[in-house]
Amino acid sequence: MPTLGSTILRLESVTSTNDIARDLAVSGSPEGCCVVAKEQTAGRGRQGHSWSSPPGEGLYFSLVLRPTLKAADSAVLTLAAAVAVAETLKGAFQLQPDIKWPNDLLVSGRKVSGILVESAIEGDRLQYAVMGIGINVAQSSFPSDIVQSATSITLETSRAILPDDVLNPLLERLEHWYRAALSQPKNVIARWEQLSSYARGCDVRVESSSGPIHGVTRGLSPGGALIVELASGQLKEIVSGEVSLRAVRPGQLSAVE
Ligand code: BTN
Repeated sequence: MPTLGSTILRLESVTSTNDIARDLAVSGSPEGCCVVAKEQTAGRGRQGHSWSSPPGEGLYFSLVLRPTLKAADSAVLTLAAAVAVAETLKGAFQLQPDIKWPNDLLVSGRKVSGILVESAIEGDRLQYAVMGIGINVAQSSFPSDIVQSATSITLETSRAILPDDVLNPLLERLEHWYRAALSQPKNVIARWEQLSSYARGCDVRVESSSGPIHGVTRGLSPGGALIVELASGQLKEIVSGEVSLRAVRPGQLSAVE
């Protein structure tokens, strides 16, 4: 069973580490191979967003995975990565991270890390998956479009942290939670729910493919979908979409449990 990061390919500038890792996966690279870049010129995020990747300031890397999972069960990979990043931010940097479903890592309400898992499917199983993780490490400022919503480890700790300081502790946590995703996915779901203030009793609006949904979060399904209770009492499982906290009008109670 290869270790994640047992082979590390370090590159200066790439379009996206996910592109390089995907090419490696297609050409037969074994599980665990890790591609790290100093800079990405076309770093990408979920739902068509870009990922700001200035040289030397963030950790940008992707892992080649060959999980024995059904495609339908693959959401647990993203959740496992989010748990690993959260535990690293807590354990190695004494931060208090939160996870916004499914994979936004927030510190002081601002985004510090994002995860993009891209996979190839053969029949009903995953042929390979590429787990791409971006962490804002040493940034002291951000482009104007994300200046209000982003933060970095350095800004939050007032310590001079480098991208490489984050990789090793994170690979260790990823190893643990990736193995759990394959053998005990329930443990990943339970840990994600523990680490996320969004998991239960949170009044949210979800921009889903079928339109906006309003309701109160009721935890994750065994497959990693966000369960939202609608005003009618109906429980809805959200498999993709953008979650935000619902604004509370003056005079309206915000407690929802
Ligand atoms: C998101 O929050 O929407 C996901 C962001 C993922 C960014 C990382 S950086 C390393 C890897 N390469 C990419 O192009 N994206 C991921």
